[in-house]
Amino acid sequence: MQETILVTGATGTVGREVIKQLSMREVHVRAGVHSIIKGENLKRLPEVGVTEINFKNPASLHAAFTHANRLFIVAPFTEGQVEMEKNLVDEAKKQGVRHIVKLSASGAEAEPGIQLGRWHREVEQYIEASGIPYTFLRPSGFMQNIVNYNADSINEHNKFYLPVGEGKVSYIDVRDIAAVAVEVLTSDEHYHKAYTLTGPEAISHSEIATVLTHTLDRMITFVDVPEEAARETMLSQQMPAWKADAMLELYGLYRAGYGAQVTTAVEEITGNSPHSFSQFAEDYKACFIPA
Ligand SMILES: NC(=O)c1ccc[n+]([C@@H]2O[C@H](COP(=O)([O-])OP(=O)(O)OC[C@H]3O[C@@H](n4cnc5c(N)ncnc54)[C@H](OP(=O)(O)O)[C@@H]3O)[C@@H](O)[C@H]2O)c1
Repeated sequence: MQETILVTGATGTVGREVIKQLSMREVHVRAGVHSIIKGENLKRLPEVGVTEINFKNPASLHAAFTHANRLFIVAPFTEGQVEMEKNLVDEAKKQGVRHIVKLSASGAEAEPGIQLGRWHREVEQYIEASGIPYTFLRPSGFMQNIVNYNADSINEHNKFYLPVGEGKVSYIDVRDIAAVAVEVLTSDEHYHKAYTLTGPEAISHSEIATVLTHTLDRMITFVDVPEEAARETMLSQQMPAWKADAMLELYGLYRAGYGAQVTTAVEEITGNSPHSFSQFAEDYKACFIPA
């Protein structure tokens, strides 16, 4: 009998790509979506069923988990993230899910670490204590962040702004995280493992600007901004203060060079080298059309 794999956060950056890649395998894929309307286009993929889930409402999880053999947990970085993910683990245990793969973050194991990592580690420890076999995927920053968070300013002013100085970051393409997730979710070989996933190289934001300049054929500039200015901008965009501070903590690590660790896990698990930032820029060029 084919396995059923439930993927949460299925309309998000990572979840959507995991569903797409899983739909090409011999498994049933169940896409857990926050709203059925947003998940409409996932229904067109082969072997994909869509189910509504609200992490905050344990009652909504019951139907979504029925007959699911494996679970891929993706939850947003938001207040209540830990409780929401724990609800998923509790339901997985009740319904006999036999493998949990959790999207975590690089550095989650560091102590004292940063807010973002500490929340992930708390959930990882809860999963470890559940007795369910698990695999933790701990990616570095996503290359797709530049599309999700910086494309507007790049397209309007040909500039992007971050308080990270010349610190290098081993950004990873979400397509590579998904490729690892698919391998791990369709095998029993990765139980009780935690993988730090990175791109093939660490790259500074000035170097990112150079790659974009070359790929887009117009001058793109990276502007290093003071922390306080970055905080004011985030607050003006309605980001809650706790989250702005957590992002500044992360950017501080980047500035100090702690985001530069490169691993070979993607290639070891998938057999393919991870995408370089140049390849990513070429593939996502359509997201950078001047306004
Ligand atoms: N960005 C990075 O560089 C980076 C690096 C390492 C790790 N991470 C980790 O990656 C995770 C985020 O992944 P992502 O970027 O793929 O997420 P995302 O794009 O923000 O998507 C989040 C998904 O969760 C859904 N969702 C939100 N609230 C929900 C709720 N109450 N019930 C059910 N579903 C809900 C959203 O649906 P709606 O949109 O319909 O609400 C969406 O599908 C975070 O845990 C973060 O710490 C991120």
